[in-house]
Amino acid sequence: MPAATGDKTVYLETFGCQMNELDSELVAGSLRALGYRFVAEPNDAKVVLYNTCSVREHAEQKVWSRLGELAIRKKDEPDLVVGVLGCMAERDGTALLKRMPQVDLLCGPGELDKLPSLVASAITTRAGLAQMAREALTTTRAEDLINPDKVRLVSANQVALQGSASRRSSTLAAAEDSLELLDLSRAISPLDADPDKPRASAYVRITRGCNKFCTYCVVPFTRGAEIHRPPEHIIDECKKLADAGVIEITLLGQTVNHYRFEHGAAVMVNGLTQPQKGRSFTGGHRRDPLAGSNVTTFADLLRRIHDEVPAIQRLRFVTSYPRDFGDDVLEVIRDHHRLCRYIHVPAQSGSDRMLKMMNRGYTVAEYLEFLDRCRTFLDEPAKGRPLMLSGDFIVGFPTETEEDFQATRDLLTKARYKNAFIFKYSPRPGTIAFDKLQDDVTDEVKRRRNNELLALQNTISDEISREQIGRTFEVMVEGFSRRTLRKMGLSGGQMRQAGTIAITIGGRNIDPSTLGDAAEAESGSSCSTGTSTITPTEALDESDNATVQLSCRTDGDQIVMIDVPARRAASLVGTIIPARITAAHALSLQAEMV
Ligand code: 5AD
Ligand code: SF4
Repeated sequence: MPAATGDKTVYLETFGCQMNELDSELVAGSLRALGYRFVAEPNDAKVVLYNTCSVREHAEQKVWSRLGELAIRKKDEPDLVVGVLGCMAERDGTALLKRMPQVDLLCGPGELDKLPSLVASAITTRAGLAQMAREALTTTRAEDLINPDKVRLVSANQVALQGSASRRSSTLAAAEDSLELLDLSRAISPLDADPDKPRASAYVRITRGCNKFCTYCVVPFTRGAEIHRPPEHIIDECKKLADAGVIEITLLGQTVNHYRFEHGAAVMVNGLTQPQKGRSFTGGHRRDPLAGSNVTTFADLLRRIHDEVPAIQRLRFVTSYPRDFGDDVLEVIRDHHRLCRYIHVPAQSGSDRMLKMMNRGYTVAEYLEFLDRCRTFLDEPAKGRPLMLSGDFIVGFPTETEEDFQATRDLLTKARYKNAFIFKYSPRPGTIAFDKLQDDVTDEVKRRRNNELLALQNTISDEISREQIGRTFEVMVEGFSRRTLRKMGLSGGQMRQAGTIAITIGGRNIDPSTLGDAAEAESGSSCSTGTSTITPTEALDESDNATVQLSCRTDGDQIVMIDVPARRAASLVGTIIPARITAAHALSLQAEMV
């Protein structure tokens, strides 16, 4: 492993999905082990890294504008290292370097294990170039050399990309899957600031990539083919996290219910079982057809984690694909009480015509039948365990008519999600829809449909929230609410920074990784991964009658705010407590401790 050289301050900002947040955490852990230190402000860092998302153009634009700002800064700081990680790096490749010459390194999501060496090389290269530029100040070419655009001409960029073609065709058996090593090398205490008090919640990857090729989606091209991790590796990781104090785990994958590990086909390299490529399900609608044979199915995996890691009090998973989700999985959730009654299952549209054009592989009737099955197995409000569903929708997909849109409204009404993520169609270069279909729904119409759907969902969310009044739930205390943190003098920027940055409150380091409010939990928000400690400017008032607001979550993923005595607040964070719901809003509930 290369050693870090020079100034080791890093700012790492993450855009997009939970998978990216996990990647950032793993990358931060591997850099930290080499002596790099994470800071909360880009201006304090010598290495600025963006872990990017390409799912919609909007997410990319944010990164372009950040990179634009860094171009200006780099004129004064030629040794500054700028890196683009994740899907934009993989998708745009070296074209990105041409457009943004201030970028020193590119690292695709399948190559993140190489990041430490890329960063170390980039630091050395930039330091050398900056030195050259300083020496050149005495020559007539000084201006040329100090200009980063020109310096670029003599610099060697650090690039690690897979190229989806090679990724798709190569067999994993051929070589050690080095990305698996990154997952395995996970630094278990995410907060340097207080390694004895790690966060209470963590993500664990079970599958990578995607084979579905929905026509609008860039993920199969940026993250490559679907790959399943060996169950032993997943369970070991859960155990390690549990030993470090984690009590809630979210399993991650683009289509988690496709998880399946065929032990007979397992390949070992250097004594290590390798992840396995996903194979298509054939007729696995009600039950995985290979269940019971020498295979770990998704249902088996959930059962094993539940039984073998009892310290994990909550186990959830995202994202589910609305096909191939068998009753076997629903039975396991029903029969194992630490499995959460929450299923995120994107529908994308309520029109069969649109679903076909999107290549989703199911009809609206089949989707609704799946939701019915979920409710039959899992909706038990009388036992304090209502099933909560959430979904994703795309409005304004090419040729979408008012009739198609009305069908989506109908589906939303029938599905009764507790919340839904609604996106305007964004044509992504490289996808089938981009190549074959004209983006013919105007932005105005997309915006209107988006707003109408949001308003409808808001009414439904509000109704579902009201139904919870008077019920008592076990809630996981995730942190101080934004309202409380604002009162304590934290800026909005600092709160957004709070990805894995510690906040010292009441003499204790609080991990605010899930700080909060429903609106912020939306995909598309950004957070930063670091290890600085932010101390609020206003001390916590811990006098006898002072109260603060805590932000908590039910196992159905509903957000609950509770006012508690300020003295006790810090010690409750990261624990699960009973709470009775007293009031309801569309996106959050109010409760009191019981
Ligand atoms: N345009 C708009 N939304 C998209 N999504 C994926 N690709 C696109 C796109 N090109 C949405 C889908 C998916 C979520 C993660 O992002 O709804 O479920
Ligand atoms: Fe994209 Fe479809 Fe795969 Fe989801 S299932 S990641 S929308 S291709």
